[in-house]
Amino acid sequence: MGSKNKLKRFRENETFSNVFQPTREELVDSEFKLKGQWRKDVFKNNNPLVLELGCGKGEYSVALAQKYPDKNFVGIDIKGARFWRGAKTAIEENIPNVAFLRTQIELIDHAFAEGEVDEIWITFPDPQIKYKRTKHRMTNAEFLERYKKVLKPDGVVNLKTDSEFMHGYTLGLLHGAGHEVLYANHNVYKQEGSPEEVTSIQTFYESQYLEQNKPITYIRFKIK
Ligand SMILES: C[S@@+](CC[C@H](N)C(=O)[O-])C[C@H]1O[C@@H](n2cnc3c(N)ncnc32)[C@H](O)[C@@H]1O
Repeated sequence: MGSKNKLKRFRENETFSNVFQPTREELVDSEFKLKGQWRKDVFKNNNPLVLELGCGKGEYSVALAQKYPDKNFVGIDIKGARFWRGAKTAIEENIPNVAFLRTQIELIDHAFAEGEVDEIWITFPDPQIKYKRTKHRMTNAEFLERYKKVLKPDGVVNLKTDSEFMHGYTLGLLHGAGHEVLYANHNVYKQEGSPEEVTSIQTFYESQYLEQNKPITYIRFKIK
């Protein structure tokens, strides 16, 4: 995308009522005004809160919001020009139960209060295969600790990925640490049993992987 187009999207994001872009200081140096208040202040209801981490254009957040009008969804990504797509669709199509937060996933425990979140989706994260990149891998032990902090005690995490490495790494880590794997499937479109919401929604990255005939994997788990 050209830089002019990006700038246009950044400017438009600032006018969207469903987009939140706190600075690092607002999140870390003081108590973020929406922390613990997402249901009340953003969605004006008391419904379950679901996050999509690394949401890209926000396909999961938007499609799940349409499918589950009685749940609230927040798509999170550091790239505002990407989630602009989801935010604009939500406004154009009048979908009130989805919002977007521009931040680093490393800071989610500054953006959400303990136990504020019911469920998390991680959709096609970069596998960060190189050893030096392990700390950026979104299912490493450190990230799981952060997720656990914001999740309700019974909260569930969903991981959908094309990366066999990420799938195997995450399963190994979950088993090794005694977390509860509720469901795992290494080829969701070929092997029966995947939940409907796993096979009925395709993200931007996913559609590219599907064109290359790559198997798409899925894990649903609880952090102990
Ligand atoms: C491979 S893309 C997948 C996007 C989308 N979920 C999809 O399937 O089309 C990974 C996304 O995660 C975001 N991301 C990666 N690391 C992040 C981090 N630490 N904090 C916030 N966003 C991050 C990137 O900006 C990118 O949009």
